[in-house]
Amino acid sequence: MIIKNEVTNAILSRQTIREYKDIPLNDDELETLMKAALLAPSGRNGQPCHVRFITDKSMLEEINHDFKEFVGYDTPAYTRAEKNPVYHNAPVMAMIFSENGSKMDAGIMVENIAICAKGIGLESVIIASVGALFDGPDSLKWKNRLNIPENYVFDIAISVGHGDEKPEPKPREISRIQIVK
Ligand SMILES: Cc1cc2nc3c(=O)[nH]c(=O)nc-3n(C[C@H](O)[C@H](O)[C@H](O)COP(=O)(O)O)c2cc1C
Repeated sequence: MIIKNEVTNAILSRQTIREYKDIPLNDDELETLMKAALLAPSGRNGQPCHVRFITDKSMLEEINHDFKEFVGYDTPAYTRAEKNPVYHNAPVMAMIFSENGSKMDAGIMVENIAICAKGIGLESVIIASVGALFDGPDSLKWKNRLNIPENYVFDIAISVGHGDEKPEPKPREISRIQIVK
């Protein structure tokens, strides 16, 4: 039997959502997500990840513009490229960076944000593709704008907001998980 509580409900019901209502996050929602990011565990508590919660719509649009100018407007590199901006029209996108590319720690931080979002009634989409921005000519411009040192590496991003779609759950391959006795 699956044990149901607020935490497991949030984990088990989280889905990637790529359509959002035009509603900003309130201060408490943002503060709660930031706390979830801050308290994410990291190896030896090294806290290598630096996260920027971008709430400025015009900045998100500019990121999308620079990203698409670099990767192309019809790139298959990310989902719904044909109609969505790379941040999926969410009111907030958090971008995570680290000095040496700490993908493990960043992954744990991003999942903390995703589950926390679900737990407070919000939805999210984890976004790797926007990292291409930092392979292109605008990399330094954006690191400066986001107050990220030049030598830091983009790890992962996540958009969060009030969801505006209810997709079917994505299938999972049950054989990936096995008990060894
Ligand atoms: C590391 C990682 C990178 C992802 N990058 C993107 C992305 O760039 N764009 C996007 O639309 N979805 C992205 N996703 C969302 C996945 O496509 C989604 O999690 C997967 O299809 C499973 O669906 P679910 O989250 O609804 O269970 C990413 C997810 C993960 C974990």
